[in-house]
Formats: sequence, structure tokens, C-alpha cells
Amino acid sequence: MISLSEPSAAVNVHTTSDIVLARRLARELAARLGFGRADQTRLATAVSELTRNVIEYAGSGECKIFDTSDSSFKCVKIIVEDHGPGIPDIERAMQDGFSTGGSLGAGLPGTRRLTDSFMIESNPGLTRITISLSVRKNNP
Ligand SMILES: Nc1ncnc2c1ncn2[C@@H]1O[C@H](COP(=O)(O)OP(=O)(O)OP(=O)(O)O)[C@@H](O)[C@H]1O
Ligand SMILES: [Mg+2]
Repeated sequence: MISLSEPSAAVNVHTTSDIVLARRLARELAARLGFGRADQTRLATAVSELTRNVIEYAGSGECKIFDTSDSSFKCVKIIVEDHGPGIPDIERAMQDGFSTGGSLGAGLPGTRRLTDSFMIESNPGLTRITISLSVRKNNP
């Protein structure tokens, strides 16, 4: 297990190739920890959506990937943050179909459904979204 201060991977997010890298690193950590294929895909999809938002609405940001497993649970925690304008109305932004970008408005609500925990903190100058996925270990 690695403490939250030391990510197992961190990606500066500026371009679509950074999205691809962040996706891959999240999937690789999940695979290494023994998450199944569906959970690996859930995490990769969540990372895609959050990092895509960073590029679209803030220009750039960072994605940090942590192994927060303990003796009972395998757990991946991911923090995606940016220094853009922030999300003025988080409740609206979490609704299916709400988009200020002329898009589907499915990214944030979809990500919440895909993950076990989902938290948004957002103010002008700092938006931080923290997600995690965990599964119980099969302890004999
Ligand atoms: N990092 C961010 N900074 C500022 N605003 C954001 C950020 N992420 C999301 N938002 C706001 O929240 C809204 C909803 O985001 P969400 O990802 O659900 O939908 P979308 O990006 O508009 O469309 P889709 O993801 O379906 O292509 C966005 O339209 C935008 O207004
Ligand atoms: Mg989006």
C-alpha cells in the first residue's frame, strides 16, 4: 500500500494523448491489484471522462492515481484536479444532460455511477474530483 501523498502514477493533462496515458496507468494499476476486466474498464472510463473535462473546461490539470488498498480491500483512488474556472453549480453539473459545452452532459453523472465513491470540490481556481473503486480481498 502506498500513502496518499505518494501517487503510484501522476499525469499532467494537456492533450488527448495525456488522457490515453492516464487511462492506461489507471487500468494497469487496477490489473496489477487483481481487479477484474469490468472494473478496470470502469476506472479507465471514469479517468477518460474526468480528464476530458479538464481539457475542455480548464485547459489543463493533473491526474493522480493511488493504491489505497489495505488488509481487507483492494482499492484504487484517483484525484483529477485543475486550476480552471470551477463548476459554479455542482448539483446541476451532476444532472444527466446538463452541459455548458454543447455535449451530452453524461460525463460526471456517468462517472459517479461507475465508481464506489465520488467527491467534487470546486471553486474558481481549484476543482478536485476524487473517485475510488474497491473490492474485498478473498482472505482465506
Ligand atoms: N473541470 C471542470 N471545470 C469546470 N467545469 C466543469 C468541469 N468538469 C465539468 N464541468 C461542467 O460540468 C458540466 C457537466 O460535465 P459532464 O462531463 O457531465 O458533461 P459534458 O462534459 O458537458 O458532456 P460529456 O461529458 O457528456 O461530453 C460541463 O458541461 C461543465 O459545465
Ligand atoms: Mg464531460
